[in-house]
Amino acid sequence: MNIANRGVRQLADSSRKLTLEQSSLAEHYPAHSTDGTTLHLPLTSQYWPKAVHEELKHQHWSKSSISAHIDLNAWQGFLKDLPRDPYVNTRWKRMSWLHLNDQHEVETLGECPMAQGGRFNDAASMADRLRYYAPLEESFTEREDVRAFVKAWADMWGIGPREPILMQITGVRGDGTIDPLQGQGIHADGCKYLSILVVNRENVSGAINTLYRDKAGSELLSTTELAPGEVLHIHDDQLFHSVSSISQENAGQHFERFIIIINCAFIDEFQNRMLRRHFPGAVLNESK
Ligand SMILES: [Fe+2]
Repeated sequence: MNIANRGVRQLADSSRKLTLEQSSLAEHYPAHSTDGTTLHLPLTSQYWPKAVHEELKHQHWSKSSISAHIDLNAWQGFLKDLPRDPYVNTRWKRMSWLHLNDQHEVETLGECPMAQGGRFNDAASMADRLRYYAPLEESFTEREDVRAFVKAWADMWGIGPREPILMQITGVRGDGTIDPLQGQGIHADGCKYLSILVVNRENVSGAINTLYRDKAGSELLSTTELAPGEVLHIHDDQLFHSVSSISQENAGQHFERFIIIINCAFIDEFQNRMLRRHFPGAVLNESK
């Protein structure tokens, strides 16, 4: 058994233990919120409004809020210790690979680099190279509302056991100067299922998400500004998206905007090759 496998096995064992400990919890099990109130986690089948499924089916995208299902304040606490992105100095980032095991529980997998081929990343410095990031903190991925979100998200798309799910927390922050980040041009991330959740947005203007039918941007489908707790779901293999650049609303005051990007079922062969190498037992969206 190689090291990666052993890591997964150990995680699977500890996850099974957790599952047993949690088995006595009722269907609507409570999670503890930082402000002392009780957060009621819904059944995964009740997590998304009906409209989300309808919209994804008919227009390949949907926007909804999950504020009622997560302790957003607590999630924002995890932004403090984000390390800088080693490849983009103006950004902060962590990422981990997760999956549902055969018991339908969320598990954290070991390390596998991010690998975007040139087709999915226009930045010459990023394309066709392996990128390694610090993992999400265990105290975050072990949270009940985080696990409930991942499970509900996977169920929404119909993602099965052992399909690697990439979860990233990333964003920008600064003081005193206009953020030099130039948004992102029209692109796709190289997967079938992609969602963008805004965790916080303080003293920020811009960062408008736009969806297009084609990469040239000739057919614009939607333009939206996501508030904290709002999530945009995209069939990433059907549509293209962009986000406009960010600037400070009040010059001279601290600004920040952080998001969670979660995606699965990669069509990028470079990423799939890396996933196969690091997670030999994974179920991948490989072309036959
Ligand atoms: Fe993207």
